[in-house]
Amino acid sequence: MNNQRSQRKLEHIQLFKEEYNPHYTGFEDVHLIHQALPVNDWDEIDTTWCFLDKICKAPLFITAITGGHPASEKINRDLALVAAETGIGLAVGSQHAALYNEELVKTYQVIRTENPEGLVFANVGAGVSWDLALKAIEMIGAQGVQVHLNAAQELMMPEGDRKFTQWLNNIEQLVKKSWVPVIVKETGCGLSRETVLRLKEVGVEYFDVGGSGGTDFLAIEARRAQLPVRLQLSWGLPTAWALLECLAVCGNQGHLWASGGILTPLDWAKALALGAEAVGVAGHFLKTYLDNGLEGLANEIKEWQRQLKIICLLTGVSSPAHLKAAAKVITGKTAEWQKLRAGDVYGCKAISSFHA
Ligand SMILES: Cc1cc2nc3c(=O)[nH]c(=O)nc-3n(C[C@H](O)[C@H](O)[C@H](O)COP(=O)(O)O)c2cc1C
Repeated sequence: MNNQRSQRKLEHIQLFKEEYNPHYTGFEDVHLIHQALPVNDWDEIDTTWCFLDKICKAPLFITAITGGHPASEKINRDLALVAAETGIGLAVGSQHAALYNEELVKTYQVIRTENPEGLVFANVGAGVSWDLALKAIEMIGAQGVQVHLNAAQELMMPEGDRKFTQWLNNIEQLVKKSWVPVIVKETGCGLSRETVLRLKEVGVEYFDVGGSGGTDFLAIEARRAQLPVRLQLSWGLPTAWALLECLAVCGNQGHLWASGGILTPLDWAKALALGAEAVGVAGHFLKTYLDNGLEGLANEIKEWQRQLKIICLLTGVSSPAHLKAAAKVITGKTAEWQKLRAGDVYGCKAISSFHA
């Protein structure tokens, strides 16, 4: 079982390269309005993001990708070097393999040794009991633990989990026992408002919507299971829609993060404008890393940071946190979705179709 897990982590990276085909996230329908008369000087724009006592250069993190296979160690080392150089956060991939096999611990711990002062997140599935999740946090000295909800992926895998009813209880226990924040994330199918409501009831305060439009794990698992392409299940809430759903539930209470199909600094800014505090990127940064190496990725992230600052200046706000208040228009399917699901039901007026 454990060897199988380790092997699977390798196959995910290999198949990712072939299956990566970003599509609709809903951010296509979000438009930030240009302000020709800036209200700030360049040096006044402050892009830093504080997570507890960690100060990052921007509200950005490389979200869970890998660990658990000898080949993952090099990737995690390189990602840690990039995170340290660019001053952003980094999450490891699912730590299950190392929780059952001491030899694999180093494939995760490398991110702490290479980036001792950085913001680092542990990662476990919701099927893991709280005591093992605490071990995962300790393993890498994490400042937060991501708990992934990946029911769709499990169901696509012939060898995947089929028992899910314990998940909420595991999360509740972990929230009670953990000394660091517990961030519940989807892995590309999106968190809905019903799911967030249930999670809030058991004390969860951090949500990463993990919507569709980027890495498609169902396609990756369908390939692993050798399903014909025509039988692949296309499923999930586009990231912008998931964000609007969760915002309608959380309002100003709770911490909302976004990931899933973030491909450009403008997508990043749009996610912040829709209410996310921070943004995670897996697929796009992994692709850049595989194509252009760690230097290529570090350069790209630095350019993203510069462009986020430009977007703040041109929308008339002094920091990424203030992008929520920037003027924007939401059109098309996303506006329709907001009206039907988010705005009307919860009376969420924080974001209207035109927000000036
Ligand atoms: C190769 C690969 C492996 C991943 N492994 C994990 C994992 O172990 N745990 C997890 O929570 N998410 C995992 N993810 C999902 C990402 O963290 C993220 O939620 C998802 O890919 C959507 O973001 P993206 O569109 O930017 O890739 C993985 C993603 C990729 C590309």
